[in-house]
Amino acid sequence: MRVLIGWMCILGVVMTNESFSLNRSVIEKPFVVILMGPPGAGKGTHAKPLAAHLSIPHISTGDLFREHISIQTPLGRKAKTYIDQGKLVPDEVVLDMLFARISLPDCKHGYIFDGFPRTVSQAQALEKRIHNALVIVINLNVSDALLVERISGRLTCKKCGKSYHKKYDPPLLTGQCDVCKDVLYQRDDDKEEILKKRLEVYRSQTRPLIEYYGHQKDVLREIDATLTPGEVFHLVLHAVAVPAQV
Ligand code: AP5
Repeated sequence: MRVLIGWMCILGVVMTNESFSLNRSVIEKPFVVILMGPPGAGKGTHAKPLAAHLSIPHISTGDLFREHISIQTPLGRKAKTYIDQGKLVPDEVVLDMLFARISLPDCKHGYIFDGFPRTVSQAQALEKRIHNALVIVINLNVSDALLVERISGRLTCKKCGKSYHKKYDPPLLTGQCDVCKDVLYQRDDDKEEILKKRLEVYRSQTRPLIEYYGHQKDVLREIDATLTPGEVFHLVLHAVAVPAQV
């Protein structure tokens, strides 16, 4: 039954038009894509265009925290103390914020998670909450040396959150977002010492999720994310369009 639903969904993704938009009439269940990978793997880079192609929202826990921090909500103040040290924000804070977000009407047909879940306990809480969804987990594989280069060259738009890279994906005008024209900045947690801690936290707390999802039938897709952004995005589209069993 699960495979049948998967195929119906996949047909919905592939057949409607060349841009892979979802044909909602053939989807019985919400379609949830989880983009996983270490800091700098490209989760945000690919989540945004994938969301546009599939016509479902992109939900980044990191972006949600940064929004709360910028408008100085109590949640933002609490999250900042952890983010500034490269640690994970406690589950209760993450889960309340996240579950409130996926209760909104735009999430009815599915969504793309970027940066969630990040621990096995978050994955278990998610499963209880969305037991009826079709879930695909895409793991973006990149070596540590490349991650450091990507993060140290990353520039982020203050307003819309779009990421650029000084060398691999520079903006048209130095220091200015191509899309919303706002200012580009380096995230505080992208500084070398904090990045080191984030990578340690990834290895100890998030990497076990690969095994966790690997044990679930037809869920996990592994992708070589060391290729160019265009090549990686092509693999991402393929991963959401082709069932693992084929
Ligand atoms: P978050 O904002 O999610 O950070 P992250 O997971 O560390 O991921 P990044 O945003 O750093 O990297 P990315 O994979 O999105 O890479 P990007 O596409 O930008 O979280 C921040 C913090 O919030 C966490 O540390 C934690 O404290 C907290 N938090 C968030 N979620 C949480 C949760 N669920 N539980 C608890 N705490 C949570 O790409 C990076 C750069 O590389 C860019 O410059 C890009 O242009 C470039 N690039 C991308 N792909 C390529 C490519 N193929 N070739 C060349 N360059 C590339």
